[in-house]
Amino acid sequence: MLLVTGGAGFIGSNFVLDWLENSSEPIVNLDQLTYAGNLENLASLRNDSRHIFIQGDLGNRELVSQLLSQYRPRAILHFAAESHVDRSIHGPEDFIQTNIVGTFRLLESACAFWRSLGQEERSQFRFLHVSTDEVFGTLSKTDPPFTETTAYQPNSPYSASKAASDHLVRAWHHTFGLPVLTTNCSNNYGPFHFPEKLIPLMIVNALAGKPLPIYGDGQQIRDWLFVNDHCTAIRRVLESGQPGETYNIGGWNEKANLEIVRTICSLLDQFKPKSDGTSYSAQITHVADRPGHDRRYAMDASKIERDLGWKPKETFETGIRKTVHWYLDHPDWVKNVQSGAYREWINQHYEAQS
Ligand code: NAD
Ligand code: TYD
Repeated sequence: MLLVTGGAGFIGSNFVLDWLENSSEPIVNLDQLTYAGNLENLASLRNDSRHIFIQGDLGNRELVSQLLSQYRPRAILHFAAESHVDRSIHGPEDFIQTNIVGTFRLLESACAFWRSLGQEERSQFRFLHVSTDEVFGTLSKTDPPFTETTAYQPNSPYSASKAASDHLVRAWHHTFGLPVLTTNCSNNYGPFHFPEKLIPLMIVNALAGKPLPIYGDGQQIRDWLFVNDHCTAIRRVLESGQPGETYNIGGWNEKANLEIVRTICSLLDQFKPKSDGTSYSAQITHVADRPGHDRRYAMDASKIERDLGWKPKETFETGIRKTVHWYLDHPDWVKNVQSGAYREWINQHYEAQS
């Protein structure tokens, strides 16, 4: 049994689906269902007893302790977070609460549970913390990519809160011996991505005939990884990662934002041409830059390849085609997310369970 936090979000739900496709081991999924949590992502598991969904806050000590003693997971996979940089600029408080205080409380509960285990179970137990490349700060065009030993220099409230959580996880290993694993991953994309982030926002705005807002000059660089590759990497780290170690995960896919948006437009021109014959790229609009906008992220993912034999399967070209197709094939998911109707899944889910 695994305990996953944030398993109704973008990466968490992809992970839960991927895990249950490849394994018979059940998952307890603890998710508060903030605006970013969407049970519709997990609709295919509605009658699957291997998925136990619990709506709740990871910072709720009583709830988490009760779940740990009831289900006795062999590992905790900690995905839950406030994850959007722009939201962290407008309202950082939730980021401090969930990413820092929430992680701290989860660590305390995890540590108490781990200590209560017998010797064999204790040595097998893992706390896997899912983090980001943004903790390392920003790179110039010519800097080498981030490695596991690059100094932390977070620049946004989001990345600062994730950096703080990474430090707490590290400290719980060094001080208390908790067998932790930390993964720092680059930007993900793929199915079920909430359309506030660059790639899904551009796809849904393009289809809706809305502007495609590029911050500043659009030459900021991110390293993009297809979400299923991230899920596979997490599985590898859980299986074979060394407690106390951190692993960088990346796609070896550095792209400027404007190039990403142009690629999306040209795929849409191919797959769903506009009736007036114009290109979706005519909707591209330059808007004011994000304050403190990091210029470039790039990951050196050679440690995980060397030590654990993981490397990404998708290239950006294959992954972005799959992603654009997925959004074209799931207009109801997009409509429900945009209208807020996905929240009704919570009621439907509980009605189905009662
Ligand atoms: P997301 O915002 O899509 O999902 C976050 C999930 O956490 C949601 O389901 C939400 O309801 C849940 N949640 C939030 N606060 C909670 C709380 N207090 N208690 C319980 N559940 C809560 O995020 P994501 O993009 O899936 O990211 C998952 C993790 O991966 C995060 O830790 C993020 O920092 C990290 N990460 C994301 C990316 C990326 O490109 N999206 C890249 C690297 C690392
Ligand atoms: P985002 O998807 O928010 O991820 P992050 O900030 O965590 O990397 O943004 C990716 C890049 O795209 C980032 O450089 C900001 C830029 N961006 C835009 O230019 N326009 C937008 O509307 C959004 C959401 C992002």
